[in-house]
Amino acid sequence: MIANRLVYWYLNNERDLPWRKTKDPYWVWLSEIMLQQTRVAQGMPYFITFTNEFETVFDLAKADESKVLKLWQGLGYYSRARNLHFTAKHIVKEFNGVFPSSYKELLKLKGIGDYTASAIASISFNEPVAVVDGNVYRVLARYYGISTPINSSKGIKEFKVLAQTLIDETQPGIYNQAIMDFGALQCKPQNPLCDSCPLSASCVALEKQQIKDFPVKEKKNKVKKRYFNYLVTVTDDDKTIIEQRLGKGIWQGLYQFPLIETLTPIDETELILHQQFSSLFPKDTLLSLFNQKDVVHKLSHQHLFTKFWIVKTNNISQKNILWKSIKQFPVPVLIDNFLTEFINTK
Ligand code: ADE
Repeated sequence: MIANRLVYWYLNNERDLPWRKTKDPYWVWLSEIMLQQTRVAQGMPYFITFTNEFETVFDLAKADESKVLKLWQGLGYYSRARNLHFTAKHIVKEFNGVFPSSYKELLKLKGIGDYTASAIASISFNEPVAVVDGNVYRVLARYYGISTPINSSKGIKEFKVLAQTLIDETQPGIYNQAIMDFGALQCKPQNPLCDSCPLSASCVALEKQQIKDFPVKEKKNKVKKRYFNYLVTVTDDDKTIIEQRLGKGIWQGLYQFPLIETLTPIDETELILHQQFSSLFPKDTLLSLFNQKDVVHKLSHQHLFTKFWIVKTNNISQKNILWKSIKQFPVPVLIDNFLTEFINTK
């Protein structure tokens, strides 16, 4: 049985990680949120700082959001930190600081999805629910030779069902951590250690010499997604800032508002923390989002997901122009459409 072998392997190979010293759901929750999209080595110092600063969920709940974000700084995906703080307050207020103790109840909390609910329920409360993270996908896809793409909705369902049939119901938390560590240390993405692998005798991918072909990922379409944040300055004396697009790429020579482009969508907090933002405006600048839904501007090979941020300030050192002269400048259609809408509301 794969579960027994994994657990046996884990007994000899388990990583010594600080959150494994306890089953306290608060610590388990913190560690699992921090480790999403983050490597263990990178997340570890943050975990130590957080648990020193906020030893219990009560400490986290009463902290200032800015302090939480500051301690999170560098870990990325700041919505994780905000959701963590929100949920800590919720747990204190609604449940007197006591964590819900089942997968189903955990799933209702903000920022807790299938993976995190399964991890907490199994590690802290012994509930037999399987975790499926990147490690688990890789181990199962290789061992069973499954070619359903792991990033398709069919694949996501199929792997969850399979993982659930494999779990060791007597020690689900150990089993879940065993398969994750096994993926991270033995069945590694590159150069897995098949020679010393306890599952090698029945591994389908190894048998077919196709280790490199698993897991299968669906090719996402070739359209590139870009995330544009335009800073639309408004002053009391009716000025704004525009810049000319220089260099290669789209819209060469056209004018636009100062642009912050990011690889993923960002929110107001992340925008304010952005270095380009702070080089233009003071920290306490008033901001509002003009379009609640991104304007999606489609070009042949790229989709521009665009937010227009209205920045109210009188503190502009940059080159500026009068609003009434803006129509004289050549601008991309994306900006022109915005101007048509915005000027009527101004
Ligand atoms: N990655 C994220 N959480 C983990 C855990 N609890 N054990 C091993 N790897 C992990």
